[in-house]
Parts: sequence; C-alpha cells; structure tokens
Amino acid sequence: ATSVPADDSVPDMEKRKLMNLLLLGALSLPTAGMLVPYTYFFVPSGLGGGGGGTVAKDALGNDIIAEQWLKTHGPGDRTLSQGIKGAGSFPFLFFLKAHGDPTYLVVEKDRILATYGINAVCTHLGCVVPWNQAEKKFICPCHGSQYNDQGRVVRGPAPLSLALAHCDLDDGKVVFVPWVETDFRTGDAPWWS
Ligand code: FES
Repeated sequence: ATSVPADDSVPDMEKRKLMNLLLLGALSLPTAGMLVPYTYFFVPSGLGGGGGGTVAKDALGNDIIAEQWLKTHGPGDRTLSQGIKGAGSFPFLFFLKAHGDPTYLVVEKDRILATYGINAVCTHLGCVVPWNQAEKKFICPCHGSQYNDQGRVVRGPAPLSLALAHCDLDDGKVVFVPWVETDFRTGDAPWWS
C-alpha cells in the first residue's frame, strides 16, 4: 500500500516532462530554419577534427556544461538531453530530431558523469522511454518494455537494449560521440551503428 502514491505520481510527472519536451520541440520548430545558417557557421570550428561529436543540449537548447549540470543533478540521476542527430528513424519524432535524439545523461554514484549516454528511443516502436527513479529502470509507457539503469533491455516486447553514445567532455562541455565499439552491457556488436 505504501507504494501507491509513488506509482500514481510517477507516470504523471514523466508524462508532464515528456509533454514539455514535445511542446518545446514544437515551439522551437519555426526557429530551426532560421538557425541553419548559424549552425553551419559554427559547426566547422566546434566539431572539426573531433570525430563527429555533438555538444549535448539541455531542454532549453543550451550547451550543457558538466560542472553546472552536476550541481543540479545528483548521484543516480538520469535526465534527458538532446544528443546525436539522426540515429533511429521514427518519423513522428522528427521534430526532436531537429535538435538530436533524446539521450539520457547519467550521473554516477560518485557524482561524476558516466562516460556513456543512453538513447531514450524505445527499441520496440520508438516511444521516448522515461526513467523511473523509484524502480531504477527505464519503463516504456507504450507497451511496458523495461530497461535497467544502463539501458539494457530486461523485459520485452523491446527486442534490443537502448542505444549508447560516448559521453565526453570538450572544454567543460558535454559532447556525445557515436558509439561504434562493443556494447559493454551485452558484449555484442552495437546494433545501432
Ligand atoms: Fe516501447 Fe512498445 S514502444 S514498448
């Protein structure tokens, strides 16, 4: 009986977060076109020679500074950021793609950022999977797939674990770099690259 209030509040909170994210995507869509020349201007200096890294953005579209992030996100935290563009192919999420795939930044127990980020797109049919802090799992609201705290699938119908990205630092900023190596959770080749 003690778990009832928590169970009730979690989906609502996560739903609100998701709605905020969707709303934000919709609102900023018109500006995306205006930003294109800007982006092209900055991409060569920001990403040149780095091997395809993408600076992680927060929900407001600002670059994420690791030090500041860690002041407001404690051990065990998993919060969505905007990561690498274009991995995955679900049209109804296209407006999120304008900014990049939603990717979880992971704060380890010792208050440092994990060296990996977790792609939030469910491997079943592409819903964005919320983090459930009480269960310490990612639980998909669409058909109930579950992933452990590293994004490894622990319950179907999702066939595969959530995709990974390297989470590096560049001048204090959080940068996602495509993960092409073995998936450390399964020992398998990465299905997403
Ligand atoms: Fe996540 Fe179906 S889309 S379980």
